[in-house]
Amino acid sequence: MSGVGSWVRAGRHAVVTGGSSGLGLEISRQLVGRGVGVTLLARDEAKLATAAQALRAQVADAAVRTRSVDVSDPDAVVDAFAGLAADHPIDVLINSAGIMREGYFETLPAAAFTDVMDINFFGTVNAIRAVLPHLPHPGGRIVNIASLAGLTGVFGYTPYCAAKHALVGFTNALRFEMEPQGIGVHLICPGEFDSPLVEALDATRTPENRAHTLTIPKVPVETIARETVAALDSGRDQVIPGRVPALVSTGQRLLPAAGKLVGRRKVAQVYRGPGHP
Ligand SMILES: NC(=O)c1ccc[n+]([C@@H]2O[C@H](COP(=O)([O-])OP(=O)(O)OC[C@H]3O[C@@H](n4cnc5c(N)ncnc54)[C@H](OP(=O)(O)O)[C@@H]3O)[C@@H](O)[C@H]2O)c1
Repeated sequence: MSGVGSWVRAGRHAVVTGGSSGLGLEISRQLVGRGVGVTLLARDEAKLATAAQALRAQVADAAVRTRSVDVSDPDAVVDAFAGLAADHPIDVLINSAGIMREGYFETLPAAAFTDVMDINFFGTVNAIRAVLPHLPHPGGRIVNIASLAGLTGVFGYTPYCAAKHALVGFTNALRFEMEPQGIGVHLICPGEFDSPLVEALDATRTPENRAHTLTIPKVPVETIARETVAALDSGRDQVIPGRVPALVSTGQRLLPAAGKLVGRRKVAQVYRGPGHP
């Protein structure tokens, strides 16, 4: 969908947190390909510059800006969005910034929980709080990248599932408040896809997590980004990208006992536990 009547069109401005890597970068690539101006927002300036350069190399006339900010710092985020909006009115905020901490609950440090909550949950809350005064009412959009791990439990993901479940609940509540103001709120719940986050996870993840997570096959990041961008055009408020993850998720919702049984079996096949040397 890109013709007359599409929400996604040239002249729009999207701010993408986590835009320097993985899904945020792929969403940005697809948006600039449709003429949308994009501001990539993340912490590492060198990564931001490399990502912006890659987008400019891939898409002629790409309007790409960058802004270094830590989404877990509420004051810095307010300043960043005020500056961005003063330069270019913002039409949509896409919250993709996130980190991963995986491991057995007994061996994870307390900081794993605070870090994941601070970035994956409060980072999104901070960005939305900061962008709202600058989004058009009506007409603005907010997209939150949650996870299938926000809809179900996953071995090894006690911090990550906690943050993503919080994000799902927050998003579904916020939508009721935003819709009367004409602001669309979209929730995207991908299953696992290849990205730098997963590459790092693969180096350390527990065997139980690998077996449990990969019960659902990976979906290409391009597909996840395409379905995310399509939600802006269609107005769909919740998307589980990929046919198989969507089917499995529906199955788990309708038959929760079967979903838990499959998960238990996958975990039991490789179980090692925290006592392993
Ligand atoms: N990969 C998967 O299998 C998967 C599955 C479901 C959902 N998701 C979700 O999808 C989103 C993107 O994941 P990904 O796999 O694309 O990860 P990624 O490649 O590691 O990208 C994460 C991005 O977030 C930024 N970021 C991290 N902490 C930040 C902070 N405090 N402030 C600002 N930016 C920050 C990173 O840049 P800096 O480090 O430079 O700040 C980077 O740009 C995450 O929300 C993740 O939970 C991923």
